[in-house]
Amino acid sequence: MALIAATRYNRGFTRFLHSPRVEQVADIVSVAEARRADSVGREVVVQGWVRTRRDSKAGFSFIEVNDGSCFGNVQIIAEAALPNYESEIKRLSPGCCVGVTGLVKASPGKGQATEIQAAAVVVHGLADVESYPLQKKGHSFEFLRTIAHLRPRTNTFGAVARVRNRACNSIHQFFQERGFLYVHTPIITASDCEGAGAMFQVTALDLAAEAKKAVESEKGEKSEKGEKSEKGPGIDFSKDFFNRPAYLTVSGQLEAETFACALGKTYTFGPTFRAENSNTPRHLAEFWMVEPEAAFFDLWDDMELAEGLLKRIFRDVLQECPEDMQFFNRRIDKTVIETLEHIVESEFLRISYSDAIDILRKSGQRFEFPTAWGNDLQVEHERFLTETHFRRPVILYDYPREIKPFYMRVNDDGRTVRAMDVLVPKVGEIVGGSQREERLDLLEQRMREQDLDPESYWWYLDLRRFGTVPHSGFGLGLERVIQFITGMSNIRDVIPFPRTPGNAEF
Ligand code: 4AD
Ligand code: MG
Repeated sequence: MALIAATRYNRGFTRFLHSPRVEQVADIVSVAEARRADSVGREVVVQGWVRTRRDSKAGFSFIEVNDGSCFGNVQIIAEAALPNYESEIKRLSPGCCVGVTGLVKASPGKGQATEIQAAAVVVHGLADVESYPLQKKGHSFEFLRTIAHLRPRTNTFGAVARVRNRACNSIHQFFQERGFLYVHTPIITASDCEGAGAMFQVTALDLAAEAKKAVESEKGEKSEKGEKSEKGPGIDFSKDFFNRPAYLTVSGQLEAETFACALGKTYTFGPTFRAENSNTPRHLAEFWMVEPEAAFFDLWDDMELAEGLLKRIFRDVLQECPEDMQFFNRRIDKTVIETLEHIVESEFLRISYSDAIDILRKSGQRFEFPTAWGNDLQVEHERFLTETHFRRPVILYDYPREIKPFYMRVNDDGRTVRAMDVLVPKVGEIVGGSQREERLDLLEQRMREQDLDPESYWWYLDLRRFGTVPHSGFGLGLERVIQFITGMSNIRDVIPFPRTPGNAEF
């Protein structure tokens, strides 16, 4: 009775599904659930988007439907006897949206345990065959970036989205299980954590009007003095929303430290912004970073935490997203599963920056960039270490003080700091962290060394003035981790809406 009614209620389908009478007969289930062998014999409703439709000469159609709940589709068998078979079902093409009520049966076909014999097919939305951009398969990732609003409907981007979701879930579980407190650090900030100066400014000023004012006042000054003004046109940001210049954060670390220095173990996980003009397969202007910060942790504890977190993410993805991982292994990079399985079973190597430099210098390899002590490691060096020399993830520590930010703890040798970077094959650095400088005088000295004004970091220095504590933390770039897991070669393809120089349409 209810199933017959479903064919009549084409328009008010959703409302109809929620009437108690129907739910007794047909459960609304995901495609993932409908595909399970133990669903055979159930009356179900599945809802999703058509991937393909094939018509058999015997008077019925096969419709493959996907709803994002899993990699695979569910096959629908729609008989010609259905009342809307000619008028609607035979017009179904990739991208159309449908709701199907029917009986789950064991499938005789290969590659699927079940199929659904449709009792009713409701068409929510057609997709024009001529103009739907995903009509055919096999588009390049470059092309798909130009249709970021539709690419979640492809196999690859569905799989990336599920793996990304699983990784985020594991990150929270990992920290929550260890008693870390989730802290929300601000997106808008007045301080520059990395000291690199590549920040996006946030303003509520009408910049065009401000610039005009500045030019006019400069002209006025010039004619009064009858000479050329030395000062260029400037905008007075003390009149801006925050009475000072403000920026999008490059890291939540400094603010997370305030909570770690009060509540012990904390982490922050949010969007992070860098205005560097880096057009590489590993850089985004907006990316997501996980930043634990823990009181009483030294650099070794920090490394252990990073290694534990990465292994937890890898293990969970392998276990919880097997279909997606098989797809990446088949279509994107034939080594991803084996690599991850190997990593979760083995120790990450730990070697000092100085030892790494020695290895590079003695390698006999010709590098484009110099390998002298004191230089930052370049991608080619990181790749040599992880891909050629060690063939596994490596944690490098104790970097030269000149190439690392002010907040890292200075070692007794005076020339290195307690920094650590986790490097992995292909992607390079996925984690950057350190033990923090907890000694007030040394921290102030380091700020001056890097031309930073200690006064503007007065609140950060207060943490060292009042009950200072040894502490450590790191930042893990979510997208780099997803790249490593999936084998996707461009970071723009592992974030839903990539923000890179010249690209913010969607
Ligand atoms: O090494 P970074 O710059 O470290 C920090 O920001 C520290 N304040 C973190 C901390 O100690 N709490 O960045 C950390 C990680 C990198 O290892 C990398 O994985 C990622 O963030 N990352 C980027 N990912 C994508 N695009 C970019 N432009 C990135 N810059 C850094
Ligand atoms: Mg770094």
